[in-house]
Amino acid sequence: MRNRGVLNFVLLMVLVGIVALAYGLEQRPDLRAYEYLPEMIFPVAAESFSQTPALPSGKVEQRPILGTIARGRMPLHLEPGPEGAAQAARELINPLADDAEAQLERGGEIFRTYCQVCHGPGGEGNGPVAQRGFPAPPSLLAPHALELSDGQLFHIATFGQGNMPGHASQIDRLDRWRAILRIRQLQAAAALVPAPAPALAPVLAPALAPVLAPTESTVSDEAAPVPAVAAASVQGGGR
Ligand code: HEC
Repeated sequence: MRNRGVLNFVLLMVLVGIVALAYGLEQRPDLRAYEYLPEMIFPVAAESFSQTPALPSGKVEQRPILGTIARGRMPLHLEPGPEGAAQAARELINPLADDAEAQLERGGEIFRTYCQVCHGPGGEGNGPVAQRGFPAPPSLLAPHALELSDGQLFHIATFGQGNMPGHASQIDRLDRWRAILRIRQLQAAAALVPAPAPALAPVLAPALAPVLAPTESTVSDEAAPVPAVAAASVQGGGR
């Protein structure tokens, strides 16, 4: 009981002290308040976004010298769209072409992960996404795709085309080139599959027409013979 009386007295004195200090101390907003460990508040090193009289621009952070390229960030001087595609066709070659064999494993992985869903395992345009209603891409084994240069394939993989989205944000640049090596490999394998014998072609053409139609093959004239590559790809289905 007695202890509590002492405690109350002490607390009262503390309160009186605080109130006295609050009234008694002069308020000087023009003066900086007391700083504990000021070295931590004002670092010696310059802050990136502050000013400095030491540099001509007056800023700490300096603009990189014109033409500087950050490591691993080689800019791509290509625009989306047909002009960019034409430029890619003129200027780009596959930097991994000389080392194709070693790159194909990774190329196959990239193709399976990012392209196969629409383009199908063999590149015929029959991936599960296309089978469930997404506009089917043309076969990557068709004459049109065979004629596209590596640079054009790279441009399509990077920026997309028509209904196909660009893949630059998902797939690293060299991996896009590797996927293109995989497409070339599929095309080469398809070319090795023998085309149907000429005598069979007229028999096969009507039979194949309904199969080929939904894949939006590049055949526009119905009377035209089925292109050997497209027919071969159907024959070699299930690869
Ligand atoms: C979402 C589905 C989808 C995915 C994923 C996809 N594509 Fe495509 N691709 C398409 C469609 C649709 C077209 C037809 C575009 C058009 O209308 O021009 C196409 C067209 C192409 C063409 C042009 C073929 C030609 O003959 O004109 C190439 C090359 C191609 N894609 C490569 C790739 C590569 C490489 C990947 C993986 C990195 C890929 N695509 C992933 C849907 C897809």
